[in-house]
Amino acid sequence: MASALVKLSRASVILGEKLALDEVSWEVRKGQSWVIIGPNGSGKTTLLGVINGYNWPSQGEVTVLGQRFGNVDLRELRKKIGIVSSLMNQWFESNEKVLDVVVSGKYGSTKLWRAPAKGDFERARALLSTLGCAHCAGRSLKEVSQGERQKIVITRALMGRPRLLTLDEPCEGLDLRARESFLEGLAALSQQKAPTIIDVTHRTDEIPRGFTHALLLKEGKVVAAGKTEEVITGKNLSNCFDVSVRVKRFGGRFYTLVDELDYKRTPKE
Ligand SMILES: Nc1ncnc2c1ncn2[C@@H]1O[C@H](COP(=O)(O)OP(=O)(O)OP(=O)(O)O)[C@@H](O)[C@H]1O
Ligand SMILES: [Mg+2]
Repeated sequence: MASALVKLSRASVILGEKLALDEVSWEVRKGQSWVIIGPNGSGKTTLLGVINGYNWPSQGEVTVLGQRFGNVDLRELRKKIGIVSSLMNQWFESNEKVLDVVVSGKYGSTKLWRAPAKGDFERARALLSTLGCAHCAGRSLKEVSQGERQKIVITRALMGRPRLLTLDEPCEGLDLRARESFLEGLAALSQQKAPTIIDVTHRTDEIPRGFTHALLLKEGKVVAAGKTEEVITGKNLSNCFDVSVRVKRFGGRFYTLVDELDYKRTPKE
């Protein structure tokens, strides 16, 4: 079996006074695509922060792309990881050209300060096309929708040929059509098996078709981890979110139905 791209062994993270991750053990291998699901405050963003070297474990071991933390050049490591989060949208000025924004990802900047290498624009166009966004290539950012912008940010992250792509709630703010189109783009990307994708969301209907694995988090602990169809069950989600739910599978996707008559638990505050 291929060695792990990400490996956490009983890793805990304390933020302020809060135990945000509590002895998390988890492995991500090449060829897998992971979704991380859990309630607000369960530690999802913290976990992505560990992978990207922004949150440091107070105990346990973390290895990312073969580098063990404590013994790693974070700047070099981060070049191999594409990061997509809604916060990044603020980085870009709206009159920037889409193609320039995408190509800037290769150079780790938000603007295209230097002349790009031969072939950069071709590659940017090809990546936009993979995500169903080829028609945006000649526009500026103010001429694209929020959903298209989200795809452009992913395309930008891919320009640096990352081995890992982490996304933190990429569907936030997208309407139904934009979200479905975005999820299809992410599904197509995951089929290419490179980069390995780790996607955070609250919602099962935002798991892209074909994503192979799922991790459920609750109060900083792993509730379940493994193959998507084995993890995304009514029992596991009811336990994770403290509300009685059923999961229906349809067309390779997972839909959660809340049993309104039976709110069987009240969350601990
Ligand atoms: N800088 C910080 N200082 C103290 N506590 C923090 C800090 N950042 C996060 N936390 C706490 O750590 C816990 C985990 O937060 P995290 O952001 O990882 O949750 P999340 O699962 O991403 O939630 P959401 O779905 O709301 O984005 C929460 O209880 C949060 O309040
Ligand atoms: Mg979060």
